[in-house]
Formats: sequence, C-alpha cells, structure tokens
Amino acid sequence: MSTWKTGFAGLIVSAALLAPLLPATAQNTDVIAERQQLMKNNAAAARAANALIKGEQPYDAAKATEILTTLNTDAQKFGTLFPEDSKTGGKTEAAAAIWEKPAEFEAANAKFVADTQAALDAKPADVEAFKTAFAGVAANCQSCHQQFRQR
Ligand code: HEC
Repeated sequence: MSTWKTGFAGLIVSAALLAPLLPATAQNTDVIAERQQLMKNNAAAARAANALIKGEQPYDAAKATEILTTLNTDAQKFGTLFPEDSKTGGKTEAAAAIWEKPAEFEAANAKFVADTQAALDAKPADVEAFKTAFAGVAANCQSCHQQFRQR
C-alpha cells in the first residue's frame, strides 16, 4: 500500500515536471463551442421550417423570413470559425478535410450563404413558394456534412 502511494506520488511529480516540455496542444474549445452552437441554431431553424412546410404551423411569411435570416447569418459566421488550433478538442465533429481542402470548404460554405440569400430574396408568400425555396437551402446540410463532418 505504502509502496503504491509512493509510486503514485512519484508519477504525479514526473508528469508535472515533464508537462512544460511537451509540445503545445492548445485547443481552441471556445471557437468549437461557438460553431457547434450555430449548427444547433441551424437545426432548430430547419425544424421550424419543416413545421411550416408540413402545416403544423400556419404559414407565416414573417416567420419564414426569420428562419432564413437565422440560417443566412449563421452561415456567414460559420466559415470564420475554423482556426488551425480547433482541429481537435471539444468533441468536435469537424472533418480534417476542412483544413486539407480549404477552397472546397469555403465554396460549400459560400454556397450555403448564397442559397439562404436566394431563398430570402424569393420572399416566399405562401407555403408552396416556401417549400420550393427551402428545398434549395436544405440540400446544403447533407452535402456539406458528407464532406466536412465526421460522426
Ligand atoms: C458548409 C458546411 C455545412 C453546412 C452547409 C451545414 N453544416 Fe451542420 N455541421 C458542419 C460541420 C463542419 C459540423 C461539425 C462542427 C463541429 O463539431 O466542430 C456540423 C455540425 C452540425 C450539427 C451538430 C452540432 C453539435 O451539436 O455539435 C448539427 C445539428 C448540424 N450541423 C445541422 C445542420 C443543419 C440542419 C444544416 C442545414 C440547415 C447544416 N448543419 C448545414 C457543416 C455544415
């Protein structure tokens, strides 16, 4: 028992001494949490859009604008939240491809910005118009996740 205790204490001491010698593995967990929160907001917006499309909520053009604005604003911010020090940590599901193929990732994100803007510009006045406009938006979720999100 006492041998175990001494051994264990020794282990803690050597770990403390070695820590400063290890390479820095700074993980930017704040930025990871921020981009994950944006995606959670996107998921909530997509659920609200589906409720309108399925008629669970009466169609409301102001609500549709609110949903599309959330997605558009989130998309503009999202692309800026992938610094080098956020590749791992914080249970991120970001795929390595984001940093390996930055031009492709930027293009996917820019497409999401453009498609949400196009849906806003369409000013869908009824549920049929919203359904059409939202289809172009929703396609981005899966296509980007396939390439750039690992689960
Ligand atoms: C341009 C690429 C891209 C688009 C478009 C995109 N996502 Fe994501 N999404 C990601 C990436 C990358 C992650 C992983 C982020 C991380 O964990 O660091 C993610 C994560 C998520 C998560 C998990 C968030 C969490 O709890 O950690 C949800 C939910 C989500 N996306 C929903 C959506 C929905 C809904 C849409 C469409 C309305 C969408 N995404 C569009 C790239 C995208």
